[in-house]
Amino acid sequence: MSSETSMNSSSLESLAVDVFEMRLADINTVDVTQLHALSIAVGWPHRAEDWQFMRGVGRGIVALDEIGRVLGSAMWFPYTETLAAIGMVITSPRLQALGTGQWLMKRVMMECDGPGYRLNATRAAFRLYLSLDFNQRKTVFQCQGRASGSEARPVSADAVELRPLVEADLARVIDCDARAFGVRRTALITALLQQSSGYGLFRSDQLEALALCRRFGRGHVIGPVVASCDEDAIAVVAPHVAAHEGHFLRLDTHFEAGQFRSFLAAAGLSLFDTVTTMSLRAEFFDPNQRVVGRPVTYALASQAFG
Ligand SMILES: CC(C)(COP(=O)(O)OP(=O)(O)OC[C@H]1O[C@@H](n2cnc3c(N)ncnc32)[C@H](O)[C@@H]1OP(=O)(O)O)[C@@H](O)C(=O)NCCC(=O)NCCS
Repeated sequence: MSSETSMNSSSLESLAVDVFEMRLADINTVDVTQLHALSIAVGWPHRAEDWQFMRGVGRGIVALDEIGRVLGSAMWFPYTETLAAIGMVITSPRLQALGTGQWLMKRVMMECDGPGYRLNATRAAFRLYLSLDFNQRKTVFQCQGRASGSEARPVSADAVELRPLVEADLARVIDCDARAFGVRRTALITALLQQSSGYGLFRSDQLEALALCRRFGRGHVIGPVVASCDEDAIAVVAPHVAAHEGHFLRLDTHFEAGQFRSFLAAAGLSLFDTVTTMSLRAEFFDPNQRVVGRPVTYALASQAFG
């Protein structure tokens, strides 16, 4: 072998390709297929339509390389002047643990300039948020599976009226969600109601419990669910389970055990994963700590929305 040939083959052993600069851009400047590819790369179930919906109700940034490929994302949903939810924080797998996540988060917190934030942290992101002074609040149990409607029966005996929610119920849905969540999510709930089928439980014409259900990811997601007791929560969720019998359903809840979780398990929605609700300068209503006259959140609208 000549010395020239051996030099050429050794120079083929390795190649440095990761030296490039990234820039930030508004999330609305990129094609939704690029966002979809990013979430697929980290194994998330979101469809392009789910990204589109989130862009419609929130704001966000992307990290782009020199030729415009999307290598990171972060979104925020400004609910009120006092609270924003942060979500869809993703960095491309080959860039992880190099500081991109922290860069995106710091930029989000600068851009939205909200006094308080709430988010749901995956295990991969937990340390990142701790380093940004977020406090750990409560575990979220992601329950999902093939719905089995036969086990799901309304059990609320004294329900005055259980009926599908219609557009005219919007103000009451926003109000009911706000009493449980802590702030009014007017834009989000308005958009969700348009995309969802919903059931409401009314007593003396007061909306006391509600459950929305919409297309998401691998099938449908039920959320938000708001109620004052397990029986009412089950009563509004059961029609959704029955409507999707045999199909993929998901529900994210802060309840670890109890009648509601037993109902979910019997309905085919078993524990798939957990994330951790965290907050910074924001109140969090623990659904296990009841206050008379105030309903609680039985299911998140989604992990990104809270
Ligand atoms: C979570 C995620 C966004 C972090 O992005 P990143 O670019 O790796 O973040 P950084 O490089 O800025 O790292 C921030 C911190 O997290 C730590 N970290 C990064 N990846 C980690 C992992 N897989 N497991 C544990 N810690 C991790 C880093 O070491 C760093 O901690 P340090 O500041 O104490 O050193 C990224 O791992 C990701 O996209 N994961 C998949 C999607 C996801 O879970 N998103 C979070 C939604 S809440």
